[in-house]
Amino acid sequence: MLGRRPALNLDRRFLYNHSMDKIIKDLLEQSKSKIENAKSREELNVIYVDLFGKNSPLVNLTKKIPSLPQNDRAKAGQAINAAKSQLEDLYQKKRLSLITFHSQAHIDVTAPGKKQEIGHLHLVSQAIEEIVEIFTKLGFSLQSYPEVDWDWYAFESLNMPKNHPARDDWETFFIRSEPNPKYGRQVLTPHTSNGQVREMEEVKKFTPRSPQGEVEIPIRMINISRCYRRQIDVSHTPMFHQFEGLLVDKNVSIADLRGTFDFFTAAFFGPNRVTRLRPHHFRFTEPSFEVDVTCGICNGRGCRLCKDGWLELGGAGMVHPKVLESGKIDPKTYSGFAFGWGIERTIAMKTELPDIRLLYQNDIRFLEQF
Ligand code: FA5
Repeated sequence: MLGRRPALNLDRRFLYNHSMDKIIKDLLEQSKSKIENAKSREELNVIYVDLFGKNSPLVNLTKKIPSLPQNDRAKAGQAINAAKSQLEDLYQKKRLSLITFHSQAHIDVTAPGKKQEIGHLHLVSQAIEEIVEIFTKLGFSLQSYPEVDWDWYAFESLNMPKNHPARDDWETFFIRSEPNPKYGRQVLTPHTSNGQVREMEEVKKFTPRSPQGEVEIPIRMINISRCYRRQIDVSHTPMFHQFEGLLVDKNVSIADLRGTFDFFTAAFFGPNRVTRLRPHHFRFTEPSFEVDVTCGICNGRGCRLCKDGWLELGGAGMVHPKVLESGKIDPKTYSGFAFGWGIERTIAMKTELPDIRLLYQNDIRFLEQF
C-alpha cells in the first residue's frame, strides 16, 4: 500500500499538468473565438451565460480543484481565474464594439429631428387677446366686472322691467341665496352689460373733480367676461363670452359708434368686410341696433350660410338716459354708446365654424388646427 501512494500522486500530477492545463487552454481558445465571432448582443449574451453560468465548463473545472493534489490546487485555481478574467475582458470589449457598431449602423445624423409638440392658447383666449389689442389702440381700457352679480346691475339699473323675459328663471341662472334689500337676487350674468353702471360708479369714485366740482367723465371701457344663459344649439352655449364696449363723453354720436365698428371690423376680420346697423330694440340703449358684418364666404353677395350676405355680430346703441341716471351721470351733459358681442360667434364668423359647441368639446384634433 505504502509503495503505491507516490504512484497515485504522480498520476494526479500528470493529470493536472497535462490534462487541466490543456483543458483550460482549449476552453480559452474555443471561448475566445466564440466571443470574437458573435454577431449581435443577443448572441453574445447567450455565450456569456454558457461561459460563466452555473453549469459552465469553467465552473465545473473549479469544482474539480479540491480533488487535485494539494500542491496543484493553487496553480489550477490561478489558471482558471486567469482564463476567466481574460474571457471577461474580451467579453466586455466585444460588448462595447457591438453597441458602437449597432449605433453607427442606425443613427442617421442627417435625418430630421422628432418634432416637439407645442401647445397654444385656446381659440377663445386668442380672440380675447386680439380684441383687447384692437380696442386698446382706440383708447379703450380693459375692465373686469363680476360674472356673478346682483339683479340691480344685470337688469334693474339697465332699465329692464321686472317682467322682462331675460329676468325669468327659464332664461337666466339665479343663485339660491337671500336677496339683497337694495340690489335684489344674485345671477350668473347673462350679458356683460352689468359692467355699464359699475363702470360709471367706478369712474365717478376715482376721477378727480374739476375746480367747479364737476367730474370729467371720459369712459372708454371694454369688459370681457363669461356669461350664462339656458340655451344650447349650434350657435348657443350655456356658457359663452361677451365683450362689452362703453364710451361716455360729451357730444358722442352714432357716427362715433359707426367709426368704432368699422375700425374693429377691418382690424379683426380684414379690410374687405364691412358693417351695417339694423334698427333693433334693447331696453338700455336708444336708439338700438343690431350690428351685421358682411359674410366672409360670399363677401356680401349671399350664400347658403348667410342667405343675404350679412351675418349678425351683436347688439349696440346709444346709452339710454335712464342708464346714465342709474350711474349718476347727467344725461343732459353726457351721452355715450355701448355694444355687446359674443366672442364665440365672432370667432365662428371669422373662421367659418359651423357649430360653436366645438369650441368646448376639448377635441384636440379640432383645437390644434388654430
Ligand atoms: C345682449 O346681450 C346685449 N347686452 C348686447 C348689448 C350691449 C346691446 C350693449 C346694446 C348695448 P344679445 O342678447 O343679443 O344682447 O347678445 C349679444 C350677443 O351675445 C349675440 O349676438 C351673440 O353673439 C352672443 N350670445 C348671446 N347668447 C349666446 C349664447 N347662448 N351662446 C353664445 N353666444 C351668445
